[in-house]
Amino acid sequence: MSRNFLNVGVIGCGMISDWYFRAAKRFPQMHITGCADLKQDLAGKQGAEYQIPVRSVAEIYNDPQIDVILNLTPPKAHCAVIKQALEAGKHVYTEKPLGIDLAEARKTVELARKKNLYLGCAPDTFMGGGHQTMRKLLDDNWIGEVLAGTVICLGRGPEKWEHAPAFYSDGAGPMLDIGPYFITQLINLLGPAKAVTAAVTKGADFRVGGADTVPRIYPVTVPTHQSGIIEFANGAQITMINSYEVFAPSRHPFIELYGSRGALAMFHPNYFGGKVEVFQDGYDDWREVPPAFIYNSDARSIGIVDMIESILAGKPARASGELAYHALEIMLAFEKSSSLGRRIELESSCRRPEPMLPVIDDGCVNRISWLEK
Ligand SMILES: NC(=O)c1ccc[n+]([C@@H]2O[C@H](COP(=O)([O-])OP(=O)(O)OC[C@H]3O[C@@H](n4cnc5c(N)ncnc54)[C@H](O)[C@@H]3O)[C@@H](O)[C@H]2O)c1
Repeated sequence: MSRNFLNVGVIGCGMISDWYFRAAKRFPQMHITGCADLKQDLAGKQGAEYQIPVRSVAEIYNDPQIDVILNLTPPKAHCAVIKQALEAGKHVYTEKPLGIDLAEARKTVELARKKNLYLGCAPDTFMGGGHQTMRKLLDDNWIGEVLAGTVICLGRGPEKWEHAPAFYSDGAGPMLDIGPYFITQLINLLGPAKAVTAAVTKGADFRVGGADTVPRIYPVTVPTHQSGIIEFANGAQITMINSYEVFAPSRHPFIELYGSRGALAMFHPNYFGGKVEVFQDGYDDWREVPPAFIYNSDARSIGIVDMIESILAGKPARASGELAYHALEIMLAFEKSSSLGRRIELESSCRRPEPMLPVIDDGCVNRISWLEK
């Protein structure tokens, strides 16, 4: 294939679609040729704003000019849309999580493999500058072997947002909505996991909030406080607490890793960049590490761009379906472990995604030399 772009059809024109439509102007590899939504008026509004042809959902699946379907529907619809897109012979990139049911999600990965099509999945934040700086520090052995670590993400969640009910129902909650950013970064840093032991709970059956357009009192159908230990294949044990039950703003670092010669800490992995710190044996304090990679803010869509470049080059994409499936199994294992009262050995695994290349040619030379000293 001699093209340096692929034609992309978007299904789902809700809140997150703005990010991808804006990104398409920055990344010509992602050539958006149509958008659709079950709500035609919403597709019409987004199409008009971003000058993208508005199509019916069926037209997106059936258009022979479209190479990739970008699935921006809610989690509950992901697997059905992925399946239909693959059946139509399209590559697919989906928003996170891959699905909400493990068996359904596995079928999508198997179908993509059988049809020799790419299946990619958000989040792509692990490809961001801050995440990759953490990865380089680990790979370059700055803190030795990682024995343990913490992932702590505490708050009340988006309970007052207009879309609040969706964030407290199946397919969301702190684990499936926020968890993918943490779990995917952990896999990027440490490789695949092998087991999960956890307990989950919720503080109330109903919450109050949301804008006037949604019910003021809405049900909570998912666990809103999850804590557990993820054992990685490399031996690292990570303690994770992920909660929408905490009023006080958290003072814990979002991710800390403890190695045989030091420790690493990083910002909330929902962002592409932020403060990365290292503590090494022999130093008195933490030191902030300057970023040495690009994509340190607002880079949502680099996952699909990487997938398009990988399709064109015939190589594996970083934000792959296998990675997302493994992340989903880890996340769902928290509830499974809690309800069965035992440690869950994971069945899936995945390749650790390839690291990004550090920036060496745009004035960041000093930054990379800081990391290489
Ligand atoms: N909103 C955010 O801040 C945010 C951030 C990161 C990721 N995401 C992810 O993006 C995805 C979409 O989230 P959102 O907030 O944009 O949701 P949303 O509810 O605002 O939009 C989803 C749209 O998909 C449409 N839709 C549903 N099923 C469909 C189907 N079968 N065919 C065609 N259209 C269909 C709906 O009509 C709706 O307009 C989710 O997977 C979510 O996890 C959202």
